[in-house]
Amino acid sequence: MKLVVSASTSLKLFTTVTPGLERWLEQELRALGVCGRVLRGGVEARCGIEQLWTVGVCSRLAESVRVRLKPFRATSFAELERGLARLPWHAYLRVHAAPRISVTCHKSRLYHSDAVAERSRRVLEERLGSAEPEHCRPRVFVRVDRDVVQASIDASGDRLHRRGYRRHIGEAPLRETLAAALVCLADEALRARSLPPDHPVGLWDPFCGSGTIPIEWVALRQGELPGAHRGFAFERWPIHDAGIYAEWLASELPKPRPSPAFAYGSDASMKALRAAEHNAHTAGLSQHCRFMRADFEQAARQVPSGTLVVTNPPYGVRLARAGLKELYARFDQLLTARTDLRPVVMACGFAPYLEYSRLGWVVAAEIKVGGLPVRLVRLA
Ligand SMILES: C[S@@+](CC[C@H](N)C(=O)[O-])C[C@H]1O[C@@H](n2cnc3c(N)ncnc32)[C@H](O)[C@@H]1O
Repeated sequence: MKLVVSASTSLKLFTTVTPGLERWLEQELRALGVCGRVLRGGVEARCGIEQLWTVGVCSRLAESVRVRLKPFRATSFAELERGLARLPWHAYLRVHAAPRISVTCHKSRLYHSDAVAERSRRVLEERLGSAEPEHCRPRVFVRVDRDVVQASIDASGDRLHRRGYRRHIGEAPLRETLAAALVCLADEALRARSLPPDHPVGLWDPFCGSGTIPIEWVALRQGELPGAHRGFAFERWPIHDAGIYAEWLASELPKPRPSPAFAYGSDASMKALRAAEHNAHTAGLSQHCRFMRADFEQAARQVPSGTLVVTNPPYGVRLARAGLKELYARFDQLLTARTDLRPVVMACGFAPYLEYSRLGWVVAAEIKVGGLPVRLVRLA
């Protein structure tokens, strides 16, 4: 059977995001021309192949993207096997590329996820064989929910936060997608001030670690596409047409636009500073970033008036609670004194601070990072 794909091929995409940011993703995808509905953990949308490419290359917030195949009912292993055997695996998986399978079962007669995985593997190996080494095998997700089986195929490959530039990390690095969420929040706060889009605003991250926030900020302002320099699992699908994809990449995408965007990053750790410099260089954005090794109070003296602050201060178990309290109190004093540094956007994992600060923080989203609750907050 010849498999044909065109711009009109209809796919059901499920794009995942950090839980708590589903509405943000829905807005971002809508702006990219992919309209979908918000579900827990992501956005589902029916669309064409070019929109799948758009999500992979252009979304700053998405963590992964999957194609959902036609769901079916199964209350026995025989029904599961028959249903799976009918799905169009050959469009997405090459022969001898039997996938790694992840299964979740919820409120269903088929409740044993290992047994469902074993049966699913058997069906797929019968259809496709299994000759490829483990690391390059594609991923398939099988979810059984209230006796309905939803199989999905991973289209992203490496998680989408892996843009390719972050080769060095400091302590507790923030995922690129979460740094991008903070940067989008800052951009929104700037737009609310009715500044023209090309207004040259500088950003300062006083706890910059490996430089993720400054780099994401400059990349956004320059129109650099987050997925432009990486590969995707969909490029290995039998229906993938590399020629049309290359043409689309070259002609359909917005080109980076030169912008005077500038970012300062400072951090007390030398290791973090080195990582930030390396990463900005790899991203090709080092001319737009300046990193300093300094305690944030000292660094603030070099940050010009009118700079916006976007940051992710320390939290969690690395610093004792007393140390965190003191650090946040000093940061609060700095922001109280420097009202010229606005707006401020922060990923705050130290909840007591938000209770005692009188600055008037507005909570924009609540998420978890490494299992710990973190709030994305802003100060107008
Ligand atoms: C949660 S990490 C930031 C991670 C960063 N967003 C990234 O993506 O790599 C907090 C950072 O604050 C730095 N830090 C801790 N105390 C500091 C201080 N007093 N002044 C400046 N930086 C400090 C740590 O070295 C650490 O890199």
